[in-house]
Amino acid sequence: MSGNEGPIDTEPVTLTRFILAEQKKHPSATGDFSQLVNFIQTAVKAVSSAVRKAGIHRLYGISGTQNVTGDEQKKLDVLANDLFINMLKSSYLTCLLVSEENDQAIVVETDKQGKYIVAFDPLDGSSNIDCLVSIGSIFSIFRKKDDSPVTQKDALQKGSEMVASGYALYGSATMIVLALEGSGVNGFMLDPAIGEFILTLPSIQIKPRGKIYSINEGYEQYWDEATREYVKSKKHPKSGKPYGARYIGSMVADVHRTLVYGGIFAYPGTSEAPKGKLRLLYESAPMAFIMEQAGGCASTGKQRILDIEPTDIHQRCPVFMGSKDDVQDVLDLYQKYSK
Ligand code: AHM
Ligand code: MG
Repeated sequence: MSGNEGPIDTEPVTLTRFILAEQKKHPSATGDFSQLVNFIQTAVKAVSSAVRKAGIHRLYGISGTQNVTGDEQKKLDVLANDLFINMLKSSYLTCLLVSEENDQAIVVETDKQGKYIVAFDPLDGSSNIDCLVSIGSIFSIFRKKDDSPVTQKDALQKGSEMVASGYALYGSATMIVLALEGSGVNGFMLDPAIGEFILTLPSIQIKPRGKIYSINEGYEQYWDEATREYVKSKKHPKSGKPYGARYIGSMVADVHRTLVYGGIFAYPGTSEAPKGKLRLLYESAPMAFIMEQAGGCASTGKQRILDIEPTDIHQRCPVFMGSKDDVQDVLDLYQKYSK
């Protein structure tokens, strides 16, 4: 061992070990879910590796071009999508996949079908790729409800019916944050030396109130009255200090900061886009599930996000999520302006 390195932990809690321990708490569990998380882990490791090497391998913005050896080069978001789809299909554990990158849901070949439905955004915040700002992957996992042949409609489930959700943040380190029904939210950091995700943020609980608001203020002229009054009240409070403003423009990074430091992340509806921008099945709902499991709140301003009945796999919804008291301030204003 050299320099400042600490002793090697000989009993690290890896993500695999954590999931296995969770599985053992449920004697009826088949182990399928644990396996599924393993396949997702592998996809995330591969995406993380591609993100870190993207400059060197010239993956940025050159989809469809050829490299010197004549191989097709893929843009990072296309590559991430292919990795997720291929890993999930080859797991024999999924029957239906919904990706932000594919217009239609993907029905897994009959002989490879399993009981899970996974909705994912393989690389969110892709407009940030070229300037090296943090990006991420987001996923939600549902169960197929019956034995009928699978169709796209099977993915139209409320967030409250989710089995688990998570995200991978490709930031200054790579981290997977995973929320399991009844087991809370845990964060696992990738140790590149051993290629394992290690539990470094156990039992994440979001503060009841934070000091940061996170919203794209460039759209202020399109906001509704509740959003406008809310942000004004954080900048010009009747008492105490104003909130700090932070907006990365990468949902995974903005939500992760909100989870760890507290506060609120918002992507409201506007006069131009009444449902906002973020997609319910693989952006808003999985993040809402994480927030609630961590003791926070997630709402459209008028409805709990996890209660929305989806009618379309790519539908959008307004988002206010984070510390309970901060989100409550927004709900009070929506209540006031509904009268
Ligand atoms: P994308 O799925 O096309 O990458 O867009 C989603 C991203 C989110 O990560 C982020 O919260 C949002 O777009 C930022 O949008 P805006 O630039 O309008 O503020
Ligand atoms: Mg996205």
